[in-house]
Amino acid sequence: MSSLIEVNGPMKGQWAMITGSSAGIGKACAITLAKAGINVFLTGRNEAALKEVQKSCKDFGVQAQYLVGDLSSRGFVKELVDWSQEAAIFINNAGSLVYAPILEVTTDECAQMFSLNVVAAYDVTREMALRMKERGRGHMVFITSLSARNVNMHAVVYAATKHALSAFAKGFRLELKKDMIKVTEIAPGMVDTEIRNSVTHPDVLKAIASRPFSPISAQDVADSVLYAVSASDGCCPDLIELRPRLG
Ligand SMILES: NC(=O)c1ccc[n+]([C@@H]2O[C@H](COP(=O)([O-])OP(=O)(O)OC[C@H]3O[C@@H](n4cnc5c(N)ncnc54)[C@H](OP(=O)(O)O)[C@@H]3O)[C@@H](O)[C@H]2O)c1
Repeated sequence: MSSLIEVNGPMKGQWAMITGSSAGIGKACAITLAKAGINVFLTGRNEAALKEVQKSCKDFGVQAQYLVGDLSSRGFVKELVDWSQEAAIFINNAGSLVYAPILEVTTDECAQMFSLNVVAAYDVTREMALRMKERGRGHMVFITSLSARNVNMHAVVYAATKHALSAFAKGFRLELKKDMIKVTEIAPGMVDTEIRNSVTHPDVLKAIASRPFSPISAQDVADSVLYAVSASDGCCPDLIELRPRLG
């Protein structure tokens, strides 16, 4: 993994907490921040994967700790935030996607996506914000999606969750800027991770295969996160959209 940006500002040596850091974008963020000298709190449900990410981060000489759990559990969110309350940076990343025609998405699947992408994201952000407010500074980065502003075929419920998450990012920024808490929204288009691995619907597979562009990488997203948290005290990157070339 490579990164051109050096963290020289006040974030160097600080702690970042990254949800969904066992895989994909969250994993790339953890390793990229670690490489830049930021200590990391990792979390996800897959302990073996978290252990590997922890090792990769420690190889850069920073501290890295993990806590295993499911963000859909409010008890776990409380435990997670108490455990990582030192974090000056919070990457609100964990999310899930059911990719299927709207009439084939079940109400349970809809509820699960809202539960993780919106309710759990709100829960953990609010708890982190309360800790940051007490300390009088912090930076929260929301990983939303280009689907926070557009609606694409086969990802309608997902788009609804990301529209909601983006509204939270704007709202937290609005209300917390007086408390010296920055909020950045990073909205990637298609990223080359495992989030679509469970897709089996033939129409959806056909639509994915016929896209005239290649996905961006998780490293592209991680580099934008590092850029955002490296901004000077007086600057808050509000929104970064990452579009695949030709997308
Ligand atoms: N990939 C894309 O094309 C794309 C584009 C735009 C935005 N995004 C957004 O980027 C974020 C990360 O996506 P990704 O592509 O990196 O996905 P991914 O590779 O599937 O990784 C998802 C991460 O979230 C964690 N997670 C999922 N459910 C969880 C739960 N109930 N409790 C705790 N952790 C949970 C997973 O960890 P465990 O399995 O260990 O729990 C994993 O670390 C998501 O919010 C997604 O919507 C993705």
